[in-house]
Amino acid sequence: MHEQSRLKPRHPHSHMWLMGLVGLAAGLALMVYAPTLKGVSTSLLLFAGFHVVGGLVLLTTLWVTALRGPVRRWTHAAERQAKGYDFGWGPGWMNGLGVAALAALAAAVAVEVSAPALWPLAFLLVAAGVVFVVGNLVMRGFRRLDHVVLPMVDLLRSDRDVVLDAGCGSGRTTIALSRVLKDGHVIAVDRFDAGYIDEGGRRLLERNLALAGLTDKVSIETADLTALPFAAADFDAAVSTHVYDHLGRDKQAGLAEMFRVLKPGARFLMGVRTPGWSMFAVGSVLSFLLTSKVAWRRMAAGAGFAVIDEGAFNGTWFVLLEKPDAT
Ligand SMILES: C[S@@+](CC[C@H](N)C(=O)[O-])C[C@H]1O[C@@H](n2cnc3c(N)ncnc32)[C@H](O)[C@@H]1O
Repeated sequence: MHEQSRLKPRHPHSHMWLMGLVGLAAGLALMVYAPTLKGVSTSLLLFAGFHVVGGLVLLTTLWVTALRGPVRRWTHAAERQAKGYDFGWGPGWMNGLGVAALAALAAAVAVEVSAPALWPLAFLLVAAGVVFVVGNLVMRGFRRLDHVVLPMVDLLRSDRDVVLDAGCGSGRTTIALSRVLKDGHVIAVDRFDAGYIDEGGRRLLERNLALAGLTDKVSIETADLTALPFAAADFDAAVSTHVYDHLGRDKQAGLAEMFRVLKPGARFLMGVRTPGWSMFAVGSVLSFLLTSKVAWRRMAAGAGFAVIDEGAFNGTWFVLLEKPDAT
């Protein structure tokens, strides 16, 4: 069991370069061309509005294309020395919505000053700015947690369970889970190629586990959740937070694969983001694209699971699923 898988390297964020070029053009147009359209010298606010938006677009472009890596290394190097766990959320993810808020508010100023008749647009931009500010606070709350507390009631069969942590990232769930399991073992699985976790997370996972004194309790595997390198009915239980909602069109396939590797009677605690107010603040209209609870229940049932329990906890919807006992 647990043989090593071979994954093709993936570059999930290679489209950033295209965004970078578009951003560069948009930023320059806003900074140089747009202010010349109006009597800039007569309106300091208009000038400032366009330049703040243009400057932010340029900065964001620079960030996603060139600055992200060096800044992350610099800020995290300092953090790692000083603090304990590091889960690798870069400053871009912690502050990105704050920058978007500033851009929306600056755009509102530019619109209001250049074309007062378009005040409804300026009003919408201010509203968007406020939503972005709230979203930034929500996002910081999600990311800042050093560990996640998992609602693990009724999940495990015994203290000796072998439990799969599906999409462990840099180890928040792995640590929470391993602490509860007295004599059990955790298999922490991830592709370790997420662009939003420093270096994909594997090195940070190893470091965090060492800090927590849990290295012996956890085995780490690099694998894809839609093609797990484990035999059928291998695990006594499984957990996963904020992962299956990242699987795009493969959600159903991921759930079917999870069903395959669990023992009959085993349970799977899955936490995902679903549409709601906090996610609206983070993703605005995009939050409506998140999979609904109804669809998750349908997909889980389609994979063969029974829903045992569900509820919201720490801004996440958790559902406890069970692979029915064959007997
Ligand atoms: C938002 S992070 C969550 C990490 C961790 N569970 C937590 O709550 O802190 C999502 C993780 O899922 C992983 N992931 C996404 N799709 C995956 C796939 N198809 N196979 C394996 N891991 C995947 C990513 O690499 C990333 O580490």
